[in-house]
Parts: sequence; structure tokens; C-alpha cells
Amino acid sequence: MVVRIFENRRAVSQACATLIAAQVIRKPESVLGLATGSSPVGTYQQLIEWYQQGLLDFSQCISFNLDEYIGLDESNPCSYHAFMKEELFNHINMKSFFLPNGNAKNLGVECRRYDKAIAAAGGVDLQLLGIGRNGHIGFNEPDSHFVKGTQVVSLTQSTIEANRRYFDSEDQVPKKAISMGIGTIMSAKEIILIAMGEDKADAIYKAVKGKISPDMPASSLALHPHVTFLVDQAAASRL
Ligand code: GLP
Repeated sequence: MVVRIFENRRAVSQACATLIAAQVIRKPESVLGLATGSSPVGTYQQLIEWYQQGLLDFSQCISFNLDEYIGLDESNPCSYHAFMKEELFNHINMKSFFLPNGNAKNLGVECRRYDKAIAAAGGVDLQLLGIGRNGHIGFNEPDSHFVKGTQVVSLTQSTIEANRRYFDSEDQVPKKAISMGIGTIMSAKEIILIAMGEDKADAIYKAVKGKISPDMPASSLALHPHVTFLVDQAAASRL
């Protein structure tokens, strides 16, 4: 595992966008694994800028997002579908992009379909991750075991509170989501995790220096052969 510490949030975003751009330049038909949350927004802004300047072309790229809430319409501005369109896809020429369908009639079937679609695309070349304050990746919350495939998850109270800022009230925050499992995430050929701010310092410390345990989902990444953590000084303050 490589850990790179940067002075601030902006420098993390720049470094992350550079690595994604390098991937797309090296392999124009890349399969990207993408993430939501505030952490990747600066990265997406930089990628958009380079695309608009004609420096990047996503026309052969496809992407799979980590997760989606259950029960929100795709057009709901709080859905991850809407977030990704607003923050990235409306502004670049991605060939196609996929998120789990949180409104599928049979959610179990949808989870299996999503894993099959990723495998059929050849697997994820580069997976981008944020990290929750409790160490969750995607929506894989602390658990008694590492979950293999895409699954329906119940969000913890701390995640509901953290995501409350995007909704009018806590009641409106969905309590369940579909998320790639730890196994799905670990099957990516390369993984980049980004974290900024002091409220991620504890999770980063445990993920980098702690024992590998499902009660700290991000600790599983230590077992992956090609992982890079890009963090700012605040998130690295306990390392
Ligand atoms: C949500 C997402 C995660 C993300 C996390 C952290 O829970 N499902 O993928 O990493 O939020 O979000 P932020 O980057 O806003 O701190």
C-alpha cells in the first residue's frame, strides 16, 4: 500500500485526477470505478477541465459507481445517479456509465446483475474510493465479516447523520442502499482512496496502521496488491 500525503484538499484532488487521467490516456477503453461524496468532487472538476481543454477523451471509457440509495428516484437530486450526472457525466463524453438500480423490483437479482455486468465489462481497471468516518468504503459498513459481492446494506446511524447534509431532514435520508461488496471492490486491478479533513484521520490511521478486520472495512485494502491512499495533512494527522 502506498500512502501519499499532500498539503491540502486541492492537492489531493489534483493528484487523484492526474492518476485517473494517466489511466485513461494509457488505456482509452478503461473501466473506471467511481465514487460519490464530497471527497471526489475536486477530482471530477479537474477531469472536466482537462476534458474541456481537449486534453482528455472519455469516449471509449465506461464506469461503474460503487453504490446507490434504495428507494430514491434517479431524478431525485439526492440520488447518486443525479449527483454523478451533475458533478461529472453531464460535462464529459463518457461512453456509458452505470450505477446500481436502487428501485429494482428484486434487489437481490439487481445485486447479482450488477456484479455480472462489471465482470462482463472485463472488471474495473481503476477504482476510486472515498472513506466514511467509520471506515466504510462504498456503503460497506463495519460488520462481522467482509461481504463478497454487491449487496443490500443498512446504513449505520453515523453514516445517516454524515449524509444528512444533502437532504432537507434526517427522515428523508434513505436507511438502505445497494453497494458493491468488499469482494467486488477488491477485484479492481488498481484502487485509489482519497481522504481529506480531520474527521477522516481516525479512519485513515486504522485503515493504514490497524489490524485487518471487517469492523474497519477499509483495512481490507491492505490485502490488495495495487492500492494508493492520497490524503491531505489533516487526514494524515494520526499516521
Ligand atoms: C458516502 C459514500 C461513500 C463515501 C462517503 C464519504 O457514504 N457512499 O462512497 O466515501 O460517503 O463521503 P465524503 O467524501 O463526503 O466524506
